[in-house]
Order: sequence, then C-alpha cells, then structure tokens
Amino acid sequence: MTILKNGTLVTPNGLFRGDLAMEDGKIARIAAHIPAGSGDTAVDVGGCIVFPGFIDGHTHLDLNNGVTNTADNFETGTRAAVCGGTTTIIDFATQDKGGTLMHALDVWKGMAEGVSSCNYAFHMAITDWNDRTKAELPLMREAGVTSFKAYFAYDNLRVSDAELLDILKSLKPIGGIIGVHCENGPVVNALQKLELAKGNTGPAAHPVSRPAEVEAEAIDRLCWLGRLADAPVHVVHLSSELGLEEVRRARQRGQTVYAETCPQYLLLEDSVYGLPDFEGAKYVMSPPLRKASDVQALREAVVNGEINTIATDHCSFNFHGQKTLGRDDFTRIPNGGPGVEHRPTLMLTSFRDTLSYVELSRLMSENVAKLFHLYPRKGALLPGSDADVTVWNPNQTWTISAGNQHQNVDYTPYEGFRAAGQVKYVYVNGVLAAENGEPTGAIAGQFVKTKT
Ligand code: URP
Ligand code: ZN
Ligand code: ZN
Repeated sequence: MTILKNGTLVTPNGLFRGDLAMEDGKIARIAAHIPAGSGDTAVDVGGCIVFPGFIDGHTHLDLNNGVTNTADNFETGTRAAVCGGTTTIIDFATQDKGGTLMHALDVWKGMAEGVSSCNYAFHMAITDWNDRTKAELPLMREAGVTSFKAYFAYDNLRVSDAELLDILKSLKPIGGIIGVHCENGPVVNALQKLELAKGNTGPAAHPVSRPAEVEAEAIDRLCWLGRLADAPVHVVHLSSELGLEEVRRARQRGQTVYAETCPQYLLLEDSVYGLPDFEGAKYVMSPPLRKASDVQALREAVVNGEINTIATDHCSFNFHGQKTLGRDDFTRIPNGGPGVEHRPTLMLTSFRDTLSYVELSRLMSENVAKLFHLYPRKGALLPGSDADVTVWNPNQTWTISAGNQHQNVDYTPYEGFRAAGQVKYVYVNGVLAAENGEPTGAIAGQFVKTKT
C-alpha cells in the first residue's frame, strides 16, 4: 500500500486533512490517520493539496490535419500530461468519410495502447452521418465510447444542421452527449477569401476571418437544434463573450447547455496576432484568441459557475516547419496550440485568489468525469475510485518555458508565466508517473471505457 500522509485532500465533500491509501490501483482508504505497516510506502505530503487526478477532456494527439501530423503523439503528449498533473485525457477519434466509427476507434486505440503515461478515453467525431453510422451508436456504447463530437466548421469534417439534429436525437437512447465545434464554416470560408483578396495573408487575418459573431451564431444554432431534439448540448472551446451570451439565453429558456473553455481564452489576447516575424502564427487556433473584454467575461463566467469544464484543446504544431507552412497564406497555418502539460498549473495559479481548490478541482476533474460518464471511477478522491492522484505544492514557484516543457513542440504560448505552485507527485492507477514535474518513465495509462 502507498499512503499519502498529512495532506489537504480535495474530496467531493470539501477539504479534508489526513491520509489517503492506495492499493492495487484503487483508493483503498481515506482517514485522519492511516498507520503504515511493514511493506507499505508512506509519503509525507504535509503542506500540499491532494487532488483527484486532473482530466483533460479535449486533446488532439497523433492527429493528421490532412497536411501534417501534430507534434505530439500519445507517447509524448501523455508524458507531458502527467508531468503537469493530468492523469486522464479524452482525445478525439475521428471517423473517416466512408469509414466506420469502430474502425476509427480501433485506429486511435492502437495509437495510444502501450505508450501512454496517463489514462485515455475517447470522444468519437462523427464526420459521415448515415444509416450505417447511426446503427453503430449502440456498438460504440458497448465499446466504451459515449461522448461524440461534431463540427460546424472545417469542410472535411463538418456535418449539416439536419444531420446534427438527427445525431442529437439518435444519441438519446444510448445516453450519449455531443460536443460541437461552434463556428459557421461556410461564413469562415467566405471571410478567409475576402482577407486573402485584400492581400491580408499573415496571421493577423486569422481572427478577422473567424470573428466572435461566427461562433455566437453557431452556438445559437446548436442550442435551438438541441431544443428541437430535446437533448442536452455541449459547447467546446468557448472563446467569446458573444458566444457566452448565447449559452446564457439557451439556459434561460430552460435548456441544458454545457460549456467548456480553455486556458488560452482565459489568459491570452488577440494582440499576439500582430507580433513581428510571423510569431503570431504560434497562436493560430480555432476559435482564435479574443479581445481583453472577452477574456474578462469568460474569467467572470468561470468564477460565477457558468463554465462547466476547462480543457486544453491541445493540438500542437511546431513553429518551425509546421506553422511556417502558412507563411504566405494564413489559411494554411496548421490550427491549434499546445497546453496539455500546463493547464493545471496555469489555472491553479491564475485563479488562486478567486476560486477555491474545490472549485478548481470540479472544473478540471470532477465535472469532466461527470459530463463524460467517468464518475466516480475518475474525478473523485473516494474509496474505490481509481488511484489517480495529483499532489500540488502551493509553495514552489517556477517559470513555464519551452526549455523546460515535455510537450514535443518548439514553443509554448505561456513562455515566461510565473507559476505559483508546482505539481509534486502524480499517480496514475496507483503508479508514480511524475515527480516534481519530471516523468518517472512509468507507462501506466489504460484505456478507460465511459459508461452510461
Ligand atoms: O485550432 C484548433 N482548435 N485545432 C484543433 C481542432 C479543433 O478545432 O478543436
Ligand atoms: Zn474544435
Ligand atoms: Zn479541439
């Protein structure tokens, strides 16, 4: 048995000072004092906060965007994840046009199996909606996939409004949930063409071609489709105040709308797109970074409980050789940025004066587990839950830098961020996976089935 002693434990019932024992990959006991017997390992975590392992509900590892592969695969991405305190990721398996959901799941499981330092589950991105795809939904549930994704943007991925309506209805019998990329794709295409025609070829044109209105319109449409289907909807990577207002309106009508945002929309602003030397390309992601007023509105929404979860949308491409593919045409800059390693540190630091440890734990672990059907196996320090545990030392300061990160990418959007605290120990299924921000080399990650 491994016993973490003298910690401040973040439990579903609030903070608890005491000990936590792990055995056979599970949390065995939580008590004020658990004596260590011979053969037990006692680890003093006095002064530290003991969280249920953080869950990143939105990552893209080993993704091919049609031109190039993400810089991080499952080996490097999950290693970086554990260094930063994340013990489970939920990645996106994506159906090929003409392909089956089961084939996509097999492909993604194959990429993750045997190389993952943290646990992994999958959302299934539906790109080809037809009778055969519909018939596969119960099979997905049996295989351990109960959350899905659809895109309103990207020509090679998006489904039509009518298809999404049918998907929403078809998910109800299996209790599935769907997250939607909310940007109006055809309008983005038109705005991109306009910018290029004006000779605006650099990264500064990226946010102009994907304004907040394009997100808000798509969120509004999703919410009405959700109401037509009488189904809950999940807005992924919410980036703007206008979009937030649409979430609020639907909730005021009585609808269930879940909202996820990401550290980049809570910490960074669109002024970076004007950086010299093509540096703005580092921040080309969709939706794009927004104005200071949007950042402020989203931060307030996090603090007042309107945001359910914080995920990264980790989708890393190197600046040199990958982002630079779009040097002459911003629409060719691979979309996405890194973050899977730094989300807990960024959020625990940035919201330390405005959110409690319990609230931060809900946003980055408990709520994610509940929304995606992993709770209480994941997302809780409870006897019987998986021994995924992250120990945070609030007294250790350090600086985020590309030079000290484990993400396999040549920059970080958070270069120079002063962290107020450090992830000290990370256990995945009871196995020590990282210590003081460095990997132990343990490959303890397992495929986790979500269950409805
Ligand atoms: O730019 C981004 N976010 N790329 C990843 C795919 C997506 O849209 O979530
Ligand atoms: Zn997206
Ligand atoms: Zn994404």
